[in-house]
Amino acid sequence: MDEVAKYAIGLDVGTENVRAVVATVNHDGDISVIGYNEGANAGMRKGVVANLTGPADSIDKMLGEVERMSGIEVNSAYTSINGAHVMSVKADGMIAVGPEDHEITDADMKRVEQAAVIGRVPANRDILDVLPLSYTLDGQSGIKDPLGMTGSRLELKASVISALAPNSLNLRKATEGARVQSEKLIPSVVAGARAVLSEKQKENGVAVIDLGAATTGVAIFEEGDLQYVGVLPVGANNITNDLAIVLQIDTSIAEDIKRRFAGETDETVDGDILIRHGKEELVFSKAEIDEIIEARLSEIFEGVRKELKAAKYDHKLPEGMVLIGGGANLNGVVEFAKQALEASIKIGIPTGLGGVADAIEKPEYAAAIGLAITAVRENGIRAEHGKSKKGGKSSGGLFSKLFHKF
Ligand SMILES: Nc1ncnc2c1ncn2[C@@H]1O[C@H](COP(=O)(O)OP(=O)(O)OP(=O)(O)O)[C@@H](O)[C@H]1O
Ligand SMILES: [Mg+2]
Repeated sequence: MDEVAKYAIGLDVGTENVRAVVATVNHDGDISVIGYNEGANAGMRKGVVANLTGPADSIDKMLGEVERMSGIEVNSAYTSINGAHVMSVKADGMIAVGPEDHEITDADMKRVEQAAVIGRVPANRDILDVLPLSYTLDGQSGIKDPLGMTGSRLELKASVISALAPNSLNLRKATEGARVQSEKLIPSVVAGARAVLSEKQKENGVAVIDLGAATTGVAIFEEGDLQYVGVLPVGANNITNDLAIVLQIDTSIAEDIKRRFAGETDETVDGDILIRHGKEELVFSKAEIDEIIEARLSEIFEGVRKELKAAKYDHKLPEGMVLIGGGANLNGVVEFAKQALEASIKIGIPTGLGGVADAIEKPEYAAAIGLAITAVRENGIRAEHGKSKKGGKSSGGLFSKLFHKF
């Protein structure tokens, strides 16, 4: 395809929901959303594809409205990947680049990335991204971008994000089943972070927590860069399931109770809540419901705490933590997280985009929006009459210069 890419598509394949966002760039250079949709997903387990037809059919169905709304055919996308198999490691590499007056080229940067990742990731894992943290040139450390600088020995420290190869392959196959080529796979929590964090937050130190249906993703940023990614195999649906088991009710009723009665509510009568289910009226103790919800939230945030500890960031995040994902809508979750994590907590709302974006300024859309934003940046998408920097869809090759900072 020689045509200049004008659109970027973010496709978030969640355990419970699939979401897509189509973005383009206005003449004034702003990113604008021209299409979006969400729909129920099937065939996923804890963020991982468990059968191919479930997600393929769900994506296909959901994209119908996206294509109608945006007027474009969706055949490629930046896609989210999720699951406890997604992880990051820090890696470093060093290369000799030439005589002392040598100027660092793109090729040198790619070569030092390769040197850093070799042997760092087992053969059964796919490297999704190599995110440079800092370079050292002839002993001078802390360089953010050495391109064009002079030196003979180049060192790189980077975060390497990887996923189990069969899982990423099956995800690609599932999207291909909906005739969508996944140009690049990005962990949902990392994509979501790109839609909700400011440069200042990333510079000072912040964590994003993606409270999804069956997973909880954690991404830590400091000095402007991604420092750590981890995913827990537990999410907001576990709360629903606990309510269903303990109260011996359908999961649909449990979901309703979770959404309506979590946290403080004035809908109690003498400490009870009343739910109409068909002809029946069901009565539950609010204290018992609170206890069930809080027990599971405690477990989830304890897991988050362990992730922060593993990443050595337990108590040093000046900008606190930002909650995204559908679970961020749970009534009272901010107060609960504040206590459990002993940090300032905000809900991450993806704002600042034009077009129809105001309709999706919700924490559950952060990942799909972040994927679309990343695709705009990496594919060099410009306004319709402008010229593309790269002239067409780039595949964002593995060792290519990865993120355009914004
Ligand atoms: N208003 C609400 N109140 C409480 N919980 C909510 C609300 N809206 C959504 N949720 C919960 O959010 C979860 C779904 O979130 P999301 O759509 O981000 O998950 P997902 O991306 O499909 O899953 P995962 O990221 O784990 O693969 C469900 O557990 C749902 O009950
Ligand atoms: Mg999700």
